[in-house]
Amino acid sequence: MSGIDLNGAKVLVIGGSAGIGLEVALQASAAGAAVHVAARGADALERLRGRHLRITTHQVDAKDADALEQLLATVGNIDHVAMTVHESAARLGIDTVAGNMKLEAAAEYFNGKFWSQYRVVQAVLPRLSDGGSITLTSGVASRSGMANHSMIGAANAAIEASARQLAKEIAPKRINVVAPGVTATSTYDAMPEEARGNFIRATTAKVPLQRIAQPDEIALAYLFAMGCGYLTGEIIDASGGQLVA
Ligand SMILES: NC(=O)c1ccc[n+]([C@@H]2O[C@H](COP(=O)([O-])OP(=O)(O)OC[C@H]3O[C@@H](n4cnc5c(N)ncnc54)[C@H](OP(=O)(O)O)[C@@H]3O)[C@@H](O)[C@H]2O)c1
Repeated sequence: MSGIDLNGAKVLVIGGSAGIGLEVALQASAAGAAVHVAARGADALERLRGRHLRITTHQVDAKDADALEQLLATVGNIDHVAMTVHESAARLGIDTVAGNMKLEAAAEYFNGKFWSQYRVVQAVLPRLSDGGSITLTSGVASRSGMANHSMIGAANAAIEASARQLAKEIAPKRINVVAPGVTATSTYDAMPEEARGNFIRATTAKVPLQRIAQPDEIALAYLFAMGCGYLTGEIIDASGGQLVA
C-alpha cells in the first residue's frame, strides 16, 4: 500500500471551516473519507457545503460540552478526529505581555484552546473505533522562545502533555498532536496590521526555511497522524525548523 488510505473512513474535523482545519477536511475528503466538519459560524459552513457536496457540516461551539455530545450523537461512530479550533488572543482582546495580562481573559483563551480539546476527547472516546485516532493541535510556542507568548506557550504545552498521558490511557485508540509553526491563516486578521507584519517578518527571518507555512502543508501532518496506525503519543512538529533555530 502506498499513500494514506482513508477510503471509507469517517473523519470529523472540529474547527474545519477555515485555516488549517479546512485543509485537513479537504485532504481527508480527497483521500476517500466521509468528512464531517464542525465550527460555529454558519456562513463559512454554508460556503463549504456549497463547494464540497460530499462534506457534511455541523454548527457547534467546542466550548459547549452538551453541544459536542449532541454532535457526536448525530455523527455516530467515528474513525478519526482532528481538532483545530482557534480563537486568537488578539481576537479575544488579550494583551499577552505578562505584566499587563488580565488573568480572566487568559482563562478564556485557555478554555478555548486547551479545555475545548479536552472536551472533544471526552465526547469522542466512547464512539471512536479501535485503532482510530484523535489529533489535537498545539503550536510551536510550546517549546520555542517567543516574545509575549508565556500564556499561549503554556496552553500549547498543556495540550502536548495531556495527549502524551492519554496515549497510554486510551490505547488501542490513538492520540497525537500537531504543533504548527506560524501559518498563513485568518487567525492573524484580528492583529493590527503593523504588528502582524512585524511578527511575520521576524518569524521569516528566524526559521531555517525562511518563510511561514501554508495551511495545506500543515494539514498533511494530520493526515499522517490519522493514517499511520503505529503512531500514538507523539508531537508532530511542522515549524519550518523554528525549534532548531
Ligand atoms: N495559524 C498559525 O500561525 C498557528 C500557529 C500555531 C498553532 N496554530 C494552531 O492551529 C489551529 C488552527 O489554527 P488556524 O490558524 O487554522 O485557525 P483559524 O484559521 O482561525 O480557524 C479556526 C477554526 O476554528 C473554528 N472555531 C473557533 N472557535 C471555535 C469553537 N469554539 N468551536 C468550534 N469551532 C471553532 C473557526 O470557525 P468559527 O470561528 O466560525 O467557529 C475556524 O473554522 C489552532 O489550534 C491554532 O492555535 C496555528
